[in-house]
Amino acid sequence: MRIAMIGGGYVGLVSGTCFAEFGTDVAIVETNPDRLAALREGRIPIYEPGLDRLVAENVEAGRLTFGDDMAAAVKGADAVFVAVGTPSRRGDGQADTSYVYAAVEQVARVAEGYTLIVTKSTVPVGTGREIAKIVHATRPDLDFDVASNPEFLREGNAIVDFMKPDRVIIGTDQSKPGGTERAQNILRKLYRPLYLLERPIVFTGLETAELIKYAANSFLAMKITFINEISDLCEKVGADVNDVARSIGLDGRIGKKFLHPSPGFGGSCFPKDTRALTAIGRNAGSPVRLIETTVAVNELRMKAMGERVIALAGGDVKGLTIGVLGLTFKPETDDMREAASIVVLDQLDKAGAQIRAFDPAGMETARPVLPQGVTYCKDALDAATGADILVVLTEWNEFRSLSPEKLKTRMTGRKVADLRNIWDPESLKEAGFDYISLGRPDMVHTA
Ligand code: NAD
Ligand code: UGA
Repeated sequence: MRIAMIGGGYVGLVSGTCFAEFGTDVAIVETNPDRLAALREGRIPIYEPGLDRLVAENVEAGRLTFGDDMAAAVKGADAVFVAVGTPSRRGDGQADTSYVYAAVEQVARVAEGYTLIVTKSTVPVGTGREIAKIVHATRPDLDFDVASNPEFLREGNAIVDFMKPDRVIIGTDQSKPGGTERAQNILRKLYRPLYLLERPIVFTGLETAELIKYAANSFLAMKITFINEISDLCEKVGADVNDVARSIGLDGRIGKKFLHPSPGFGGSCFPKDTRALTAIGRNAGSPVRLIETTVAVNELRMKAMGERVIALAGGDVKGLTIGVLGLTFKPETDDMREAASIVVLDQLDKAGAQIRAFDPAGMETARPVLPQGVTYCKDALDAATGADILVVLTEWNEFRSLSPEKLKTRMTGRKVADLRNIWDPESLKEAGFDYISLGRPDMVHTA
């Protein structure tokens, strides 16, 4: 089998490489010259554990190539996957499908013979049908089908998520005679290794597949937002959110995953996909009010986090040094898209604090999106040096083992805002810190 993968970003690169690992020949088409140059030189432009080795092995085996020649990649491909970005459109929050449509038009222009176009990008309901119209308008002579195969990988765990997915969704145009069979047969062959692993493969219609992706991401975002609100409630009534989350999660109907309180969900997908689902609902005359609320609560939450740090300082951080541990939207990624740190550091900077920050992978991606005045430190202890307050924004494992005693040797002040609950409140209090976290009683020394 041979496929073309249009877009060599997170999804295109990971899924293209994993298909190659399954034994398929994969041509990744990437238009960003820097990204393409990096890939051709064997450098991985994103931080994803294990990806460098997998890419190198498949390039070496001759199954994985990178280029910008659309015609060469599409020629003879059994399927053409589209994995370009679908960012939020400014203003109305709808997904911007212009990159998808542009890519599809390029594919249509150069395609020879039967072509199966598969959307791997997260696309609004109706995009598959619009793609069919564009292809038909561009090349009325072309024999083609459109399928939807949304991707559920998580950054930081992307290879395992792709190779051992909870499910694979394949949506085809059930109204087109013969289209479904042709598309399903090709995709069945491509995903054969997952059949053998007995991973569930769901065959459905185009619109359903497109909606499944938004419903899944929005449900998870709503679950996080739920525990974040319960966390706030715990603080007011003296309950412990860790025990609440664990206990409700033990009910198999609820499940224990995605119940960790946080400064708000971020990343390249949950924020934009929840906004997009609300737009899809509004446009269809069927508002998804739970998700509209999820979006609003999450935005307010990020702002509330900066205010908490300022309150811990006694209402004023002007001239204070604040050490920040973790900048990326979650650990094991260098991705800064819609990270809570952007909102929180902006507030602290505007309030006059001196910020010393460290992130194990995100220092370079953080620089362009964080305030100019931020000092980037060489490690966590360097960020804590001279700090009046220490703030944890991302729960990288290496921060968990920092002992309070060690922090005391570096920090000037004795205040910690742990916005990921990585430390034990009692030990911080015993070490003399004023310690606040999420959904657990504050450990603040009274004068
Ligand atoms: P990305 O921005 O990292 O990558 C997209 C790539 O496509 C870029 O490198 C861009 O240069 C390239 N590109 C754009 N137009 C092109 C064209 N016409 N020809 C060739 N290359 C082109 O985006 P991403 O994070 O990989 O996300 C892609 C899609 O997958 C989005 O719809 C996203 O919602 C979805 N998704 C992302 C994740 C994730 O974890 N990042 C997971 C599941 C689904
Ligand atoms: C998410 C989904 O988990 C993937 O299944 C999906 O494919 C992907 O979006 C996508 O569509 O792009 P990802 O954005 O990589 O993956 O990261 P997650 O691990 O889901 O975390 C998203 C955000 O939620 C992070 O900011 C994280 O800190 C936050 N989160 C997660 C919490 O605040 N609490 C939790 O319990 C879990």
